[in-house]
Amino acid sequence: RGDLLMLGIETSCDDTAAAVVRGDGQILSQVVSSQEDLLARYGGVSPKMAEEAHALAIDQVVQKALDDANVSESDLCAVAVTVGPGLSLCLRVGVHKARKIAKAFRLPIVGVHHMEAHALVSRLVNKDLDFPFLALLISGGHNLLVLAHGLGQYVQLGTTIDDAIGEAYDKSARWLGLDIRKGGGPALEELALEGDPNAIKFRVPMRQHKDCNFSYAGLKTQVRLAIESRNICASDIPISSATEEDRQLRADIAASFQRVAVLHLEERCQRAVEWALKIEPAIKYFVVSGGVASNQCVRTHLNHIAEKNGLQLVCPPPSLCTDNGVMIAWTGIEHFIAGRFDDPPAADEPDDMQ
Ligand code: KG4
Ligand code: ZN
Repeated sequence: RGDLLMLGIETSCDDTAAAVVRGDGQILSQVVSSQEDLLARYGGVSPKMAEEAHALAIDQVVQKALDDANVSESDLCAVAVTVGPGLSLCLRVGVHKARKIAKAFRLPIVGVHHMEAHALVSRLVNKDLDFPFLALLISGGHNLLVLAHGLGQYVQLGTTIDDAIGEAYDKSARWLGLDIRKGGGPALEELALEGDPNAIKFRVPMRQHKDCNFSYAGLKTQVRLAIESRNICASDIPISSATEEDRQLRADIAASFQRVAVLHLEERCQRAVEWALKIEPAIKYFVVSGGVASNQCVRTHLNHIAEKNGLQLVCPPPSLCTDNGVMIAWTGIEHFIAGRFDDPPAADEPDDMQ
């Protein structure tokens, strides 16, 4: 395995990322080019703008990943690339690049599911982590509780019925007038440290539903109403220009939001652990991954849930929780070893064929 070298390419969302990972899990390079600046400047990015940003960055990002790893394309065993879920315009940029390299150097291609990659990167982080395990995957677009029986064998225990938790963090941060150039989630987490988590009694979602699904749209609305009813005018006045009293109010809203957002995760995860242990009593690990898993409050509370149930929490370091090329390369390695890959594109195939 140590001889295998996999290039991973990720363009499903806002980041253009690439990495080279060795079969034994050694990370040889990791490059991420973020569109967060664009997001902050324009208050959002259209699929077309995102596609253009990926197209501008992709060649350099992949070249840097190869250079930093000190390898050339011909050293690779295959190319792994995210094929979904995500914006198709954005995904195409990565797939196109992967196919171009694969065709030129006669390399197999491994198509990777973005959410599977968030889950499986935990096996790179912790080499003892065997199937079966329970995973909570929390990002901007997804909120999934999954029982992983084996490679490619997943049972969904819960999902969001509306918004994902990352979306609620991002919108709340925007409405609170935070500086979101480094992302809404991290900005809100930072401000919440200054606030009282019990200042505002937001309702915990879905308590009457005894399942493992999530809902964050209602909590988002509660935040919006809390801001409007206190006349903070946060979206007009950035937090840097707020009065001390106004800043404290915003911090209280942030902390109260975070308390309930995380409590909702805890409640659903506790039930999911109980369900999962009934189905697979051999489970030893609870994996928490995806961008929101880089949040310290989330990590602490979910560690508590894991410990309470005799499970070990595996939460990748923040750089492997948020979108990255390493998780794609690693998932590529797992599938490659299992014999799941596509042959190199034929020499006469057009580059943009998918
Ligand atoms: O997995 P990811 O990088 O991209 C998607 O697949 O969506 O997750 C991005 C999400 C964003 O909503 C971002 O605000 C959130 O993860 N996030 C955080 C933190 N860091 C990133 N949310 C809360 N606290 C954080 N520290
Ligand atoms: Zn992601």
